Amino acid sequence: MKQASLLVVDDETGVRESIRLIFGKSLRVHEARSSEEALRKVQEETPEVILLDIMMPGTDGLETLKQVRAAHPDGQVIMLTALNTARTAFSAKETGAFDYVTKPFDVDELRLRVERALEKSRLSQELERLREEVGRKYGIENIVGKSKVMMEIFKTVSLVAKRKSTVLITGESGTGKELIARALHFGSERRNKPFVVVNCAALPDNLIESELFGYEKGAFTNAYQRKIGQFESAHGGTLFLDEIGEMGLPVQGKLLRAIETETFNRLGGTEENKVDVRIVAASNRELEKLAKDGGFRADLFYRLNVVSIPLPPLRERREDIHLLLHHFLQVKARENAVAERRLSAEVVDKLLGYSWPGNVRELENLIERLTILICHEAIELEDLPEEIRRGESRPAFKEAVLEGSRPLGEAVDEFERELILKALQKTGFNQTKAAFLLGTSRRVLRYRMEKLQIAEDTELIECAKVSR
Ligand SMILES: Nc1ncnc2c1ncn2[C@@H]1O[C@H](COP(=O)(O)OP(=O)(O)OP(=O)(O)O)[C@@H](O)[C@H]1O
Ligand SMILES: [Mg+2]
Repeated sequence: MKQASLLVVDDETGVRESIRLIFGKSLRVHEARSSEEALRKVQEETPEVILLDIMMPGTDGLETLKQVRAAHPDGQVIMLTALNTARTAFSAKETGAFDYVTKPFDVDELRLRVERALEKSRLSQELERLREEVGRKYGIENIVGKSKVMMEIFKTVSLVAKRKSTVLITGESGTGKELIARALHFGSERRNKPFVVVNCAALPDNLIESELFGYEKGAFTNAYQRKIGQFESAHGGTLFLDEIGEMGLPVQGKLLRAIETETFNRLGGTEENKVDVRIVAASNRELEKLAKDGGFRADLFYRLNVVSIPLPPLRERREDIHLLLHHFLQVKARENAVAERRLSAEVVDKLLGYSWPGNVRELENLIERLTILICHEAIELEDLPEEIRRGESRPAFKEAVLEGSRPLGEAVDEFERELILKALQKTGFNQTKAAFLLGTSRRVLRYRMEKLQIAEDTELIECAKVSR
């Protein structure tokens, strides 16, 4: 590890020399005699710890402190003061000094304080690193997808991330709603502020309210002390309201008011609290329909739906399946410290044709299970779970239509999509040959591809190769 450095700023040669004597062995020690020199050294050397004399002639120690802090906010400043200026030292702490010691200083005490400042600096560097790591992990570049729909979604996410507009994300379970919500947060200026999740389905109505807005001591029987709500916790950051379709109507009213005015009252409180929060909501139910049927406030729906991001189920973007398989094979091998598994061509074929009712989460879990449980390197058909192995998983989709849970048009589109993809794969992506195979013209095929959003990109060609 790089040796930490310390800068001593003092006009007295004696002081600088003794600091060098005390710390010269364990730290790189730099010296400055004046305020100007101090600022220059701070910028050049970015020392972890700065010992700053408060009483240098010609300059105001507090002013120097301010400038040093501005030039190098991560440096921990310890003020050196004469006994009679301890009062100034107090205001120095308020201006952002980490600590102060009085001159003449006790060597052990000074050592201890410098050690503490170094520890603080190490911790904040570690925190900064973790923060960056989390930001990268949830960055949009880690969301996998090459299909046209997903590309459009990525575009929307990067456009609106920086705005404050509320966003409504809809999609079946496991399509990546929370992932998109995090990408919105970590792609914004708010990334270093909290990302707070409230799952509206997990709590009954009366609890949701206190969860969101908090309460004052004595607001109800068991309110022994004040509780801060999630609205307040998310101040400066993003509040993610998951499963918002499950929220009861009375709470919806209060939520709407809080979003519109950016103020809220704690339960049992009279004080209006101002907050700056970006709202992202998600639902796996169709809120617009729910609103028409009276199960959701229409005004809240419009307020949330300023930007809408509908995430398509995986079976409607089969081009992404291959990419996701590849991605999770890598990730799960790394996470579990085992060799990366390989999928046989039959397995890939089967997985590309499967309907994935649990969407990306189901695919991720499957690959995780296979990575951990299967000891041989190549995964074969018999390693797959029964429901996937069981031939064409089509019945589910016919039944869904007959049960009324899926419109016929959608099912027909899906059927057609699959046939076209298969034909394209079979013919090595030659559209003329694929059209012939399907008994239609190339022009009609292209028209249908466009309409069904079948992309003509490399991933498809690659997946055609793998599944023959
Ligand atoms: N496009 C994607 N790329 C990589 N991983 C994904 C993608 N979509 C989803 N995932 C992963 O799938 C899992 C489920 O995603 P997520 O929790 O965001 O779904 P959800 O829509 O919120 O589901 P639910 O409605 O059940 O809460 C997560 O582990 C997530 O990391
Ligand atoms: Mg979710």
